[in-house]
Formats: sequence, C-alpha cells, structure tokens
Amino acid sequence: MTRLNRFLLAGAAMLLAAPSVGQAEDYKVGLLLPYSGVYAALGQEIDDGFMLALKERGGEIADAQIEVVREDTEVKPPVGLSKARKLILQDEIDVMVGIVSSGVLGAIRDFVHQSGTPLIVANAGNDDATGARCSAYITRQSFSNGQVNRPMGPWMFENGIKTVYTLAPDYAAGHQMIDNFKAAFEEAGGKVVGQEFTPFQTTKDFGPYLTKAKAAGPDAIFVFYAGGEAISFVKQYASFGLSEEVPLYGSGFLTSPLYVNAEGPAAEGVIAGLHYIPTLDTPENKAFVEAYTRDHGKAPSEYAVQGYDAGQALVEAIKSGATDKEALAAALSKVSFTSPRGPVEIDPATNNIVQNIYVFETVAGSDGLTQKLLGTVEAVRDPVNGCAM
Ligand code: PHB
Repeated sequence: MTRLNRFLLAGAAMLLAAPSVGQAEDYKVGLLLPYSGVYAALGQEIDDGFMLALKERGGEIADAQIEVVREDTEVKPPVGLSKARKLILQDEIDVMVGIVSSGVLGAIRDFVHQSGTPLIVANAGNDDATGARCSAYITRQSFSNGQVNRPMGPWMFENGIKTVYTLAPDYAAGHQMIDNFKAAFEEAGGKVVGQEFTPFQTTKDFGPYLTKAKAAGPDAIFVFYAGGEAISFVKQYASFGLSEEVPLYGSGFLTSPLYVNAEGPAAEGVIAGLHYIPTLDTPENKAFVEAYTRDHGKAPSEYAVQGYDAGQALVEAIKSGATDKEALAAALSKVSFTSPRGPVEIDPATNNIVQNIYVFETVAGSDGLTQKLLGTVEAVRDPVNGCAM
C-alpha cells in the first residue's frame, strides 16, 4: 500500500466495536461518480449508501484507515477517463468505486484493467464489462443491463402482453437494456412491433416519439429511462393521455424511489423490473431503510443499495486480509452476503453479481408513491457472454 495522508473512519464507526480482524493498513478509495449532469442525483445516492456502509461496518476493520477521494464524471466518457487516470496515477488509489453510465464504464475499462486497479461497479450495467470485456479487476455490486431486463420478457407475455413498442436513450445502456428485453420477450412468444432510440441527455420533448409509438398500436410500451430523463418521460407520457390507452412498462429505474415522487401521479400503475425496492420485507432491508431514512430523511433507492453493497464488499475484502490491489481484486470477486436486496454473490465466470429481480408496480401509499411487489425471479445470473478471465 502507498503511504498517504489518511484519516480514520468516523469515530462513531469505531465505537461499533465488532472484533477487529482488519489489517493495520491504509486504503485509498476513489469514488468516481456523476456529481453533475442528468445522473447527478444517482451519483450522490450511491455516495451516501457507500458512506453509510463504512459508518456501520467500519468497526469490523477498525485497524484499517480509509480515505475517500471523489471525482465527477459529468456523465461524459472522455471526462470519466481523464478522472480515472487522475485517481489512479496521481492519487494512487487502491480501489475505485462507482461509475453510473455504461458509456463511461466502456471508456475507462481498458485503462482500469491495464493499471491492475480493482473497480467495484456501483451502477453502470454495461454488459460487456462482465461479458466479452470482463476483467479480473472489475466486479459488479449493481446489475448488468441484460440481467435487469430479461425477466420482464416472459413475465409480460405470461400476463397477457403480446405486442410491445420500445423506447430508450441512444447510448450503450439504452441499446443493451432494450436488446435483452426484446430477445427474452420474443423468445417467450411476444413481438416487438417498433422501437426508437432518443438522443441521450438532449431530448426534452418526447411527444413525436410517443405519437409514433401510439400509432404502432402495441399492447404495451416498454422503456428504459433514468434520472432527469425518466422524470420528463413519465410526466409527458401521462400528459399526452397515453396512460389510459397503453400501459407503460419498463426497466425499474424508470420509477426509481429516488425520483418517483417528482413524477407524481403519472407514475401510478407503471410496472417494472429491478434488483431492489425499499418495500422488501426482510430484516436486512428494514434495518437498511431505517438507517438510511434516519440519515437522509427519505427511503433509499436501488442506487443507495448499490453504494451500500459496494461498501460492504470492500469491508469483506479487507476483512479477508487483502492488503494490495491484486489481493483486493481477488477477494472482491469472492464476496457474498445478505444484502438489503436479498442474497448476493459474485459469479466467478463473469464477475457479475447474482441476485433476485423484483417485478413491482408503483402505487399510491399513505405517504406518497410506493412499490408493490408483484413477483420475484430468484438468483438471476448472466450467461457467460464471451467472458474469459
Ligand atoms: C447505465 O448507463 O448503465 C445506467 C444508467 C442509469 C441507470 C441504469 C443504468 O439507472
């Protein structure tokens, strides 16, 4: 480990006083997230979840000193790459955590891999990063784009939807989410009757796309949008009068608890699939929701749990005795624990996470919109997809 200026984790964490099996080591973590741009709120939520895990579990590695350095990707692949270079070459981080956009992950993958720096992906679902461009240094505590969307294909077909029109932003994640959904839906017997990819980060008016979608006469519309784009899309879908005519389905980021209340009544009735909803009835989730709500005054979203589990994975890797980048990467690919989202483990064939996918409906609750669980697809694992580590 490099010797750097370190600070101890918050004293409160030290007081949690679980028996310390951590190393008397210093670890420098680079949090590489969008703190500006359409995914800024997502980045902050991941950061908050990560820091909560360190606060709660820091006592288990009380001998380890962890320093966090933050950089903003601005959701731009070239900016993400230059910030990744800065964190690794200049700050000499021991482990990188973060990345929200699949485009940014695609841009930094080779540099991260060649530098031998462990990266815990805390959002970006880019299938290639745990597929043909997988790496022994890259593990995922979030989801892959295919993993979240495949289960919705058969689920929708079995629930009476025979034809679908799809919409998504025109970048890596939009294409991968829709391609995976389409393949699974058509394999189940359905038909995608039309699709469109909208300019990423710049589409303000979805009206022309909604007109075309409606004209295709599908049983349902299936979309992926996240962050600011999700809020605009869902509101425009309702104000266009489509909600009463064609049911809206999607990748669950569409109605994330992070911003569903900004979408308002327009989000009611949307059905989607995701790896986490804050209404899961488990002791681990109840404790997490309570702690996160206490600190932040709102329920956590999937982004918070991804940051939280990235922190838990790091604690587990340090506890296992890993003291350099090589050992940390190896340990990170072996972690398994019970997350607020359910049991999770890393698949040794891809370094992607294995986890449940939940189908849920956004419904009105006593205190704003909430998530009603409709079904669970257990232990969803990606096909190997060209990964050779
Ligand atoms: C992605 O680019 O991989 C991505 C971004 C935001 C999401 C999900 C996936 O909510």
